[in-house]
Amino acid sequence: MVGVGLIGTGFMGKCHAIAWSAVGAVFPDVAKPRLVHLGEVNEELARRKAGEFGFAKASGDWRAVVNDPEVDIVSLTTPNQFHPEMAIAILEAGKHLWCEKPMAPSFAEAEAMAEAAKTSGKVAALGYNYIQSPAIRHIGALLDEKIIGEVNHLRIEMDEDFMADPEALFFWKHEAASGYGALDDFAVHPLSLVSVLFGRVASVICDMAKPYADRKLATGGRRAVETYDIASVLMHLENGIAGTLQVNRSAWGRKGRIAIQIFGSKGSILFDQERMNELQLYLTSDRPTEQGYRTILIAPHHKPYDSFLPAPGHGLGFNDLKTIEMKAFLDAIAAGRNSNPDLAEAARIGRLCEAIIDSAASGQWINSPETATAPARAPP
Ligand SMILES: NC(=O)c1ccc[n+]([C@@H]2O[C@H](COP(=O)([O-])OP(=O)(O)OC[C@H]3O[C@@H](n4cnc5c(N)ncnc54)[C@H](O)[C@@H]3O)[C@@H](O)[C@H]2O)c1
Repeated sequence: MVGVGLIGTGFMGKCHAIAWSAVGAVFPDVAKPRLVHLGEVNEELARRKAGEFGFAKASGDWRAVVNDPEVDIVSLTTPNQFHPEMAIAILEAGKHLWCEKPMAPSFAEAEAMAEAAKTSGKVAALGYNYIQSPAIRHIGALLDEKIIGEVNHLRIEMDEDFMADPEALFFWKHEAASGYGALDDFAVHPLSLVSVLFGRVASVICDMAKPYADRKLATGGRRAVETYDIASVLMHLENGIAGTLQVNRSAWGRKGRIAIQIFGSKGSILFDQERMNELQLYLTSDRPTEQGYRTILIAPHHKPYDSFLPAPGHGLGFNDLKTIEMKAFLDAIAAGRNSNPDLAEAARIGRLCEAIIDSAASGQWINSPETATAPARAPP
């Protein structure tokens, strides 16, 4: 049994709690979790959520969770600006860490977290849930076998509409303390997918925009919006693939879209997280009379769908991705190795985000940090 602590019980806190309850039933080989201690901003909320989620103890002080000797692993699901202090305290207390994305509001803080993880020798993972999708894993396998030939063009978009209403109230994601906006809040997800499916980004140029300059405060009056809800990035990958990345948190009608279009010399692959149980494949090897996109439904042979369901076509959901992510995290702990990706990889993606932001500020193509010695690629 491993003792679990949870800090934060909002949207992601509940997703983590559901995954902690499900993981032992879905994956019988993992160490069984024991829900020990839950932390929130005050005792009353902590006690109520501990009752709902099934945690034995509750505290209005997050440090009580960190210092609880019965806690081996902490799920950290507080707003971004709290991640650095809390994550470092968790690691220094000798606990394994599962931290929500994005890592931290600045690269310097992300680097400090990665350093703390290294020094602690504990397993530390970041919440890149989408790379765990059976559909994404299958796309990776198809790319490895070059079913669509050599990939030359990638388009990836992440859009939601939770900030689309100009009358929606100002909240923490509008504060500069939380980061730059859609780019570091959202783009870390598509960039994690680019990383696992295609490798490293070589050079970038970005434009960022604010759809609304200010927003109403719950307490009355208005406050200037400090973050950018829209970002458009052109990029070139080290392997020569040309790409675009578009992110928008104010895109009416888009609810949880992560759309990927991959074009190769012998076909193409399409995927959208809003329809996460299917992907589209177009192959030039089909007879011309039947060429067209075929829809492939995710089924038991797309691992680890079969751990959830024996029947094809019934579908997984977002919370199942969190359970798969947790299984990978627990496997890393059991094997005494780093999670994949670990905080060093997450910090690398954070650093790439900073380079993208620098390119928006300068209006120039910028090399990604890994390829800083190569000349920046200019548009033709
Ligand atoms: N992986 C994903 O797909 C995904 C999706 C959404 C959000 N997130 C990330 O999850 C994190 C949380 O986002 P959310 O949408 O759940 O936010 P939220 O506002 O719904 O929840 C945050 C929770 O943290 C609690 N909290 C705040 N300060 C605290 C403190 N000092 N001590 C203890 N608890 C505290 C709040 O009371 C609240 O319950 C963010 O970093 C966000 O970027 C990840």
